[in-house]
Amino acid sequence: MRRARYPGTLPRVPEPPLVGVIRIYELACNAMGSPFYGELLDRMAGDVAAAGPVGQFLDGHLDSTYEEAVPLRFLGGIHRLVLAGQAPELAERFPSVGGDGDAARAWPAVLDALQAHDAVVRDALTRPPQTNEVGRSAALVGGFLVVARDTRLPLRVLEVGSSAGLNLRFDGYWYEADGATYGDPASPVRFAGQWKDGRPPFDARLEIAERRGCDRDPIDAGTEDGRLTLLSYVWPGQTERFAMLRAALDVARRVPVLIDRADIPEWLVGQLREPATRRATVVFHSITWQYLTDHERAAAETELASAGGRATPDAPLAWLRLEPSADRSHPELRVTTWPGGEERLLAHCHYHLGPVRWVA
Ligand SMILES: C[S@@+](CC[C@H](N)C(=O)[O-])C[C@H]1O[C@@H](n2cnc3c(N)ncnc32)[C@H](O)[C@@H]1O
Repeated sequence: MRRARYPGTLPRVPEPPLVGVIRIYELACNAMGSPFYGELLDRMAGDVAAAGPVGQFLDGHLDSTYEEAVPLRFLGGIHRLVLAGQAPELAERFPSVGGDGDAARAWPAVLDALQAHDAVVRDALTRPPQTNEVGRSAALVGGFLVVARDTRLPLRVLEVGSSAGLNLRFDGYWYEADGATYGDPASPVRFAGQWKDGRPPFDARLEIAERRGCDRDPIDAGTEDGRLTLLSYVWPGQTERFAMLRAALDVARRVPVLIDRADIPEWLVGQLREPATRRATVVFHSITWQYLTDHERAAAETELASAGGRATPDAPLAWLRLEPSADRSHPELRVTTWPGGEERLLAHCHYHLGPVRWVA
């Protein structure tokens, strides 16, 4: 028997770093509308610390970092089983499918589901969580309307880092502020009264001549697999976000878009090689620039500036982006337009859903 170094104490086995990572995600889920996940993560941390069944399952990931998001990959795999109807006992607990949100009773069913469907969860561990936030259309729409109003040309809309391209279908949603409206009045995706201090020019004439996107890992929102992937990464309990995503997925079935599997800088070179005459080209992205390497970001921005240099009043270019502010406290919407290269701040907004402070 090993002797304790100090009388009366046992040698302390250090916890794997993954336990600390799980605790950080637990705090985030509790703070951001998913106490159900918060409690599941609390149990998961205890299990991993004690080398229980989840700890053993995650044996190859015990040193993983926060950025690798292993706890969210794991729960995404479990959530996918629930959404696919493969774990009925868990469905009774998961708020996203009408369950009672009782995480204490859910945990033993998580362990059962893991045992019965370990291949699904193992597959989820290989993929970084990927989302597509349709709530960002409430801010982005203002940028498209400003470009349409200022250029009086049909838009050629090019999204980089599209994920499933839900924001490429922004004109399939409904927007309403102070009696002014834009979009599809019958749309199940509805943004009403969301703008503060002003509102976008909803009365601008906006015609979309072409839309196309790229992502290094595109999701096909028209397939059941794509739908499950997107839904599985929304935290159960974030009811409004979940409902809006479901509604946007219904719109996506009706509005197909082409999303190329490509890296952003190379794709931009191909798309911007020739100016598109009698169209305003709008390159846009949301919460994507931070995922590029410094080299990729510089290459993409160089390509935008050189395409801007080739732009004419008949073939203008706009670079619209919804990305974190300099102090990273919130995202803001900015647009740079060519010819000229003038940059404008249009709005302050939120990462998912929330008020848009229109400052244009
Ligand atoms: C946080 S998601 C945002 C998705 C979407 N723009 C939205 O607002 O919901 C970032 C997206 O950028 C994609 N991405 C990251 N780096 C990329 C690159 N170098 N080339 C192409 N896509 C990239 C990821 O696959 C992911 O779908």
